[in-house]
Amino acid sequence: MSEKASATLSVGVIGLGYWGPNLLRVLHELPEVGALWACDVREDALVSVDRRYPSVVTTTDAQAVIASPELDAVVIATPVSTHYELALSALLAGKHVFVEKPLTASVAQAEHLIKVAADRSLTLMPGHTFLYSPPVNLIHELIASGELGEIYFISTSRVNLGLHQPDIGVAWDLGPHDFSILRYWMNELPSQISALSRSCIIDDLPDVAFINLGFPSGAIANVELSWLAPSKLRRTAVVGSKKMVVYDDTSNEPVRVFDSGVVPSAPETFGEYKLAYRSGDIVSPQVEAAEPLLLEMTDFCNAIRTGEPPRSNVQVGVDVVRICDAVDRSLRIGGAPVGLEPEGRIRLADGTPGR
Ligand SMILES: NC(=O)c1ccc[n+]([C@@H]2O[C@H](COP(=O)([O-])OP(=O)(O)OC[C@H]3O[C@@H](n4cnc5c(N)ncnc54)[C@H](O)[C@@H]3O)[C@@H](O)[C@H]2O)c1
Repeated sequence: MSEKASATLSVGVIGLGYWGPNLLRVLHELPEVGALWACDVREDALVSVDRRYPSVVTTTDAQAVIASPELDAVVIATPVSTHYELALSALLAGKHVFVEKPLTASVAQAEHLIKVAADRSLTLMPGHTFLYSPPVNLIHELIASGELGEIYFISTSRVNLGLHQPDIGVAWDLGPHDFSILRYWMNELPSQISALSRSCIIDDLPDVAFINLGFPSGAIANVELSWLAPSKLRRTAVVGSKKMVVYDDTSNEPVRVFDSGVVPSAPETFGEYKLAYRSGDIVSPQVEAAEPLLLEMTDFCNAIRTGEPPRSNVQVGVDVVRICDAVDRSLRIGGAPVGLEPEGRIRLADGTPGR
């Protein structure tokens, strides 16, 4: 850590395309962060940084950021195919590293980065922003407190028109959001994954995927992902034995809790089922107004300072990559169900073994 870091952290952001400027803006706001560098191979991306943040050092050379003795940490927001090499060279140069989701393009790459970071006592953090989202945290509390009852199933749609990524299909691009949320809410990893996809516009670049996940608890989930949709949807329904929740990330009322369900009673004669449908109050709880990205970058700075794992930690990162990898393996065998690989190293964020 540089001498300056005793007061503040010095951070370099690599990749200033669609997402990187958001990270730069938030880091610029944080009192924990002092000197900032920004890097993109595209000169035009640097022009707007120079104009907006005159104090930020700009460069087109990622290795200059990684090698700079002035910097404590590197934030990587480049295409997924570049994550591993950039993160590895930054860790080897002694930098703490934040990598946008998904952590890497393969499980082996993720596990190698985790080992390199651990060997050097450096923070490595994947960018699973939704773990810092107030609505996602509210639903986590509803599930963990038992208010929803047993979770029967979760159905989620994350679709919009664009943006096709050049190096990864839609499951690796949008899927990590839902996979990280499902892992967090369910407090378990899926034991069975099957997927169908289609490359509608560009050959061998799936732009729509339907993914089914089965959990050890018996809960099932369906994740619909697409870059080809008439309108933007960010909608998740959680159906429990006591209550149901609709989470719409595009709504002013992002979480609505339905006191609805079905109560079966014992059949009077063989084969005769009596079901009572219960449709009670719909409550829209107050959701804290906090920017997830600001909370995420604050957690990164805190993890560097304390050595404690952040909420979005490496185990989340590698588990999400394992789910993406399982999706690919299922796709290769025509959508048949597969398990997670490697088996037997399921550990949850709080260090407890997964169910
Ligand atoms: N957390 C979120 O909600 C969220 C949202 C969007 C994107 N992302 C993630 O952010 C990352 C970037 O996505 P994007 O949509 O901004 O991509 P993008 O293609 O718009 O931007 C990537 C930028 O990286 C630059 N770049 C590539 N290689 C470089 C190198 N070696 N050195 C310096 N610059 C380099 C490119 O010139 C480009 O400007 C991805 O991992 C993506 O999954 C996260």
